[in-house]
Amino acid sequence: MSSDLVRFGIAIEKDLLAAFDAHIARKGYGNRSEAIRDRIRATLIEESVAKGAEVTGTLTLVYDHHVRDLTEKLTEMQHELGEAVVSTLHVHLDHDHCLEVVVLRGDAAQLQSASDRVLAMRGVVNGRLTLTTVPGGRPKHGARKTSRHRHE
Ligand code: NI
Repeated sequence: MSSDLVRFGIAIEKDLLAAFDAHIARKGYGNRSEAIRDRIRATLIEESVAKGAEVTGTLTLVYDHHVRDLTEKLTEMQHELGEAVVSTLHVHLDHDHCLEVVVLRGDAAQLQSASDRVLAMRGVVNGRLTLTTVPGGRPKHGARKTSRHRHE
């Protein structure tokens, strides 16, 4: 995170602040600043997604693999998405159900519509697409490779 922090004051109704404090305590935030920063980031990500920016995301699915043609349809969809599919994790949950997590990268609108189609398929029990962007916005075109960095 940038060390270039700026402090600013906010005028807010007492009740609204009390409700927010209770909310962030339930969420486990240690202080208001981090909670507010997270809300700001989430809003900016939503805006990028709405504008159809280059995004990264995960599509999580639980489905019944006995439903006719579903496994084939899901594989077909991933082939159609091509390079937008970065990686897939598959877990055989029980006799009937599979969990699949698909890591996606690409145009927000394209990922959203592909995910909507998958989630609407018969046999998909539950699922959700979560999209995010890297702070600082859109990666350069062609800069699709994950950059190497250290975790310290
Ligand atoms: Ni399975």
